[in-house]
Amino acid sequence: MPIIAPSVLAADFGNLQRDIEMLNESAAEWIHLDVMDGVFVPNISYGMPIIKTIDDLTEKVLDVHLMIVQPERYISTFKEVGADVLTVHYEASTHLHRTIQAIKNEGMKAGVALNPHTPVHVLEDIIKEIDLLLIMSVNPGFGGQKFIQHTYEKIVQAAELIDKKNAEVLIEVDGGVGPGNAAQLSQLGADVLVAGNAVFSAANPLDVIREMMKN
Ligand code: DX5
Ligand code: ZN
Repeated sequence: MPIIAPSVLAADFGNLQRDIEMLNESAAEWIHLDVMDGVFVPNISYGMPIIKTIDDLTEKVLDVHLMIVQPERYISTFKEVGADVLTVHYEASTHLHRTIQAIKNEGMKAGVALNPHTPVHVLEDIIKEIDLLLIMSVNPGFGGQKFIQHTYEKIVQAAELIDKKNAEVLIEVDGGVGPGNAAQLSQLGADVLVAGNAVFSAANPLDVIREMMKN
C-alpha cells in the first residue's frame, strides 16, 4: 500500500489549520511541503514560518521538497522548523554527496528529486546514500499540471537501479497524481504518492486519500 503525501500547495491558506486538521483525520501518513524560490522554478510558494506552523498542528511526517538553488544553505533551518524528510533537486546541487550527508547528519531522511528531463541513471553513484528518490511527473513550479506519461518508465528504471545496487530507497512520484493513476504507479514500484489538487479540490478528500491507497 503506498504512502499518500497530500501537497499543502493546493490547500486553502486562509483555512490552513482546518485543512491540516482534516489531514490529521485522514489515512495519509505524510504531508508534502513545496518550497519554491522563484529562481530554480518560476514560482514562489512559502517557507519556514508556514512549515513551523504546520509542524505545531500535526504529528504526520513532514516531507519537504526544496525547489530552490543552493539548498545546502538551509539544511539546519529546515530541521529546526520540523522537516522529517528533506529533498533537494539533483539539478540544483553541485555537491550533492556533501548535501546528502549534511541532511542525514541533522537526523533527517535525505531525498533527491529529478526533473522530467533528468535520467534516473545520474543517481548511480549516490543511490546507496539516499533514503528517497522523488521522480517529478510534471515540470516543478505549479500544482494542477498534467501527468507526464514517461514517468511510468522512470519508475521502473528507478526500481531496477535500487535493486541492482541493493539500496534501500523509497520511490516518490510528484505531479498530476490522483485516483486515476495511483494504482498503476504503486504497482510499478512507487512507494509514496504526492497529491495536491486531487486531494484538496475533491468534495471528499478523505475518500480520495483512501481510494489512492488501494492497489
Ligand atoms: C509541483 C510540486 C507538487 C505539486 C503537486 O512543483 O512539486 O508537489 O504540489 O500538485 P498536483 O498534485 O496538483 O499536481
Ligand atoms: Zn512537490
